[in-house]
Amino acid sequence: MAIIKTTDNDKREFDSAISELYEYFTSLGARKGRGLTYNVLTYGCQLNESDSEKLSGMLAEMGLTPSEGGELDAADVIIFNTCSIRENADRHLFGNLGAFKALKKEHRDMIIGIGGCMMKVPENVARIKKSYPYVDLVFDPQQLHRFPVLLRDSIRSKKQLVNIASEDYIAEDSFFPIDRKRKFRALVPIMYGCNNFCTYCIVPYARGRERSRSFDEIVRELSELASKGYKEVMLLGQNVNSYKGEDGKTFADILRAASEFKEFSRVRFMSSHPKDLSDEVIDIIATRPNVEKHLHLAMQSGSDKVLKAMNRPYTIEKFLNTAESFRSKVEGGSLTTDIIVGFPGETEEDFLETLDAVNKAKFDAAFTFQYSARPGTKAAAFEDQIPQDIVTDRFGRLTELTNRYAEESNARLVGKTMEVLIEGISKAGDMTFSGRTVTNHLVNFTIPEELGIDIGPDHLEGRLCEVRIDRARPYSVDGVLVSLKGE
Ligand code: 5AD
Ligand code: SF4
Repeated sequence: MAIIKTTDNDKREFDSAISELYEYFTSLGARKGRGLTYNVLTYGCQLNESDSEKLSGMLAEMGLTPSEGGELDAADVIIFNTCSIRENADRHLFGNLGAFKALKKEHRDMIIGIGGCMMKVPENVARIKKSYPYVDLVFDPQQLHRFPVLLRDSIRSKKQLVNIASEDYIAEDSFFPIDRKRKFRALVPIMYGCNNFCTYCIVPYARGRERSRSFDEIVRELSELASKGYKEVMLLGQNVNSYKGEDGKTFADILRAASEFKEFSRVRFMSSHPKDLSDEVIDIIATRPNVEKHLHLAMQSGSDKVLKAMNRPYTIEKFLNTAESFRSKVEGGSLTTDIIVGFPGETEEDFLETLDAVNKAKFDAAFTFQYSARPGTKAAAFEDQIPQDIVTDRFGRLTELTNRYAEESNARLVGKTMEVLIEGISKAGDMTFSGRTVTNHLVNFTIPEELGIDIGPDHLEGRLCEVRIDRARPYSVDGVLVSLKGE
């Protein structure tokens, strides 16, 4: 499959579609006697969040403002940015779509668009064509750079427009207007797609082949973000260690370059594949103070047999050695993981090996999943699918164990005073704030009034502070602010 870089011509088309849509929406708004709004509903992972920041940026350039209401708010333009990793995401989309039928009848000019990974699954597109004729536009994540052109064409034609690319495109972030959701955090995709084809996973089909952004472009973007005052960058990719930039540049080069910007209090990244995490990356985590002391390394299973059937090319011994190397080099660092239970053919013995591996790795947090067959993946056709009652039982036993280690990890922080990057208010009612330690532990904390700190809206987001931790919970810790940095 071809990988196509966007050209100047694409950019000209993009700009001209945006201006045309600006005029269209402005005159429609004038007729209605009000400004028009948009609502981008985001499902799934941070790459989708990043795509949604671009969709919002493009809609804002078209003269629309974000709608104020909740999830299903009847904005003038509604875009579903879907996810296909788990089954309930599908149900959620089709459940919500039904509700728009009546709304669309009432507001004839309303536009409903659906993009994201679900649209790369032909069954989903066929279902929309058949049962949801009031959806105006169906597009895929590979051609976000064509969104304004497609939106314009669907408005012009007044018919449902379905446009799913068969090529994999790559557009630099500089192509897009980006409306960053968090004032202090910038999501920076460094690569797109995945070549690993784990047998359970839909991502390689949904996001296409691996393609890396230009190293120079990424550094240019980081420098711009630093000068704009962003405090945290999150480098994103399905498998960041496979990054291949110009002149042999690797992910380690990007991580090092990002950490050179002293303006960034935190440099984070997601996700690494255990097969190719380099010692160099672990060394950078260990030695650069603003690189998060946290590694998310998906184990998926503790059984070599199941790993093989999943097409995960490592043994559990190798995985545990990497985990051990991280633990020994990054003192106090946190290691988190993803684990699937109930993969086809998983026996009780295999499952016990997973529990055993969890006992060895002692993950600071784990995202646990019940295997769900994704149509089109190899594993969906495997024999020996595991009955749901067994999956439920194993899932319960696994989460009990992973929660215990997570709580122990949180308990180790109690009594310590730790640096926290403030993310915002967590519970407005009692003025509890939340943030993260450099080890990615979630901290909820209060601010004693006698410190006289200005806690006005957004004043504290992105600031560093010291928090004394006094209580551990399963997924977070509680504390009290001791001092605000940079006062
Ligand atoms: N079933 C269950 N979990 C899955 N994941 C990906 N595909 C599936 C599936 N078909 C999980 C993996 C991956 C995480 C993002 O989602 O653990 O690491
Ligand atoms: Fe899916 Fe495996 Fe690629 Fe991760 S590495 S996105 S689990 S195929």
